[in-house]
Amino acid sequence: MTADRIPLCSSTDLTDGGRAWAFDVCYRGQTLRAFAVRYQGQVHAYLNQCGHVAMELDFKEGHFFDDSGCRLICSTHGALFAPDTGACLGGPARRPLIKVGVSEEQGRVYWHTAPDLHAVAF
Ligand code: FES
Repeated sequence: MTADRIPLCSSTDLTDGGRAWAFDVCYRGQTLRAFAVRYQGQVHAYLNQCGHVAMELDFKEGHFFDDSGCRLICSTHGALFAPDTGACLGGPARRPLIKVGVSEEQGRVYWHTAPDLHAVAF
């Protein structure tokens, strides 16, 4: 099975360390929120599920970076994650964030389906 590329947003919608772009995915049969951020020029995307408790990270929608702009932070108990890998850098989370494949081409950002990750059927 090949991955599909699904248009997500314009490249200019994501600024380094700035607001995320939220979207819905179907992960293992469950509809979940996901988000894309830009960090050090590159776009990264993750399921919006903390590695501590299955809660969304953002208290205020679209805000995932801590004050340094260098780490993603869970608003519930303060776990910190690397924006480029999703690895847990501190706090109570034991698991990394679950990555969603993305690419950027000609001013557009796309997310990629995977065997357990699909577009939400409407
Ligand atoms: S739910 Fe994210 S740190 Fe506890």
